[in-house]
Amino acid sequence: MASDRSSLTSLEREKASVFHSWSAQSTLNPLMVRDAHGVYVTDEDGNTYLDFSSQLVNTNLGHQHPSVVKAIQDQAALLCTIAPQHGYQSRYRAAELILDHSFDGAAKVFFTNGGTEAVEHAVRMARLHTGRHKIMSAYRSYHGATSTSINLTGDPRRWPSDNGSAGVVHFFGPFLYRSNFHATTEQEECARALESLETTILFEGPSNIAAIILETVPGTAGIMVPPQGYLKGVRDICDRYGIVYIADEVMAGFGRTGSWFAYQQHDVTPDLVTFAKGVNSGYVPLGGVVVNEAICATFANRVYPGGLTYSGHPLACASAAASIEAMENEGVVENASRIGEEVLRPGLAELAERHRIIGDVRGTGVFFALDLVSDRATKEPLAPYGASSPAMNELVGACRSEGLLIFSNYHRLHVVPPCTVTDEEARDGLARLDRALGVADKYYVGG
Ligand SMILES: Cc1ncc(COP(=O)(O)O)c(C=O)c1O
Repeated sequence: MASDRSSLTSLEREKASVFHSWSAQSTLNPLMVRDAHGVYVTDEDGNTYLDFSSQLVNTNLGHQHPSVVKAIQDQAALLCTIAPQHGYQSRYRAAELILDHSFDGAAKVFFTNGGTEAVEHAVRMARLHTGRHKIMSAYRSYHGATSTSINLTGDPRRWPSDNGSAGVVHFFGPFLYRSNFHATTEQEECARALESLETTILFEGPSNIAAIILETVPGTAGIMVPPQGYLKGVRDICDRYGIVYIADEVMAGFGRTGSWFAYQQHDVTPDLVTFAKGVNSGYVPLGGVVVNEAICATFANRVYPGGLTYSGHPLACASAAASIEAMENEGVVENASRIGEEVLRPGLAELAERHRIIGDVRGTGVFFALDLVSDRATKEPLAPYGASSPAMNELVGACRSEGLLIFSNYHRLHVVPPCTVTDEEARDGLARLDRALGVADKYYVGG
């Protein structure tokens, strides 16, 4: 029987009724959001926050972009839903626009409801195409929360769900700041990471390996832009052993790095590309896989054994087409690139001069990470791997008090505003971040 909830606050009702992701349920204290516009989010008490997180790094166009909202409204008036075996305009239009910005030889788009399903299907396609089972992924990665994706994920969120039998082999990618290869230059790191990857393949048995999946720029795991040459090296290795190269662009794609897809900055052609998030800024759940000609050909006369009731949902596809058109018409990708080079990179470097807890600033476009340390010499992280710390809790709290929404992960803060952020908004965010970092300076113990 329904209970009387009229005496409860909305926060109490939220906590009593909604089971939240990735959380111990009794410790929750969610921000109760009323509405959001552009780069600003307003809570139910009327407090406004500058969104330097793009939520989960997905609102690349900011909140409530008018032409995307209108496209959803227009589509809703015409056709809210339809079974995926039918054809309709907004789905092929979204696919065409995605292909227009993809690699030469990108043939078709398979639509899913989000990023993790895109990864599941890319893996299934690669396995069936090659007749092989093993998939390789980086330890420093996040690929989603469903069965195969969570096993591919390298970060500690995998551990509780790791059944050890998903056919996944993990390896270390290049990351000079915390090098696994004792490298001192990007070139050394690149060469040693490639050598290590190839050795792992040889010891696993190349003929067992269906695919290598790589976030082009690992996102949640720390925004590590790979050295030039690394992804080309991975492509060469894949070609040498008949392995499918899957570029996971769920977070890095659609403008985040200052290009339509991040792999375009590395002069490589993947076989499959997974996308979600920025494709429509998450206004309606959507993800998908861009499929090359060879893998499309595999399923030309053979049934692809996979599908979804909502594959290419009309509201999602209409919002994707409108998002991509808005990005094209408003120079959104160019803006992300320029803001990164002219405002964020120099601004964050200045913050690093003032706050010694910033051990490393790295990124590109509107996709930057601050690697926070208690000692620059030892690079001791401000929170242990897979955990939090009083220092990080205080810092994140200070950002909230400054009216700044920021993405935090273990010992890192990620500066990831919408691609539409203006110079003024970006500078305002950096100023708020500067004040918040001041609260955590006392945790620095190094020289
Ligand atoms: C690189 C990458 N792949 C896959 C996913 C999973 O996407 P979703 O949460 O839409 O399932 C994410 C989500 O953050 C991601 O960053």
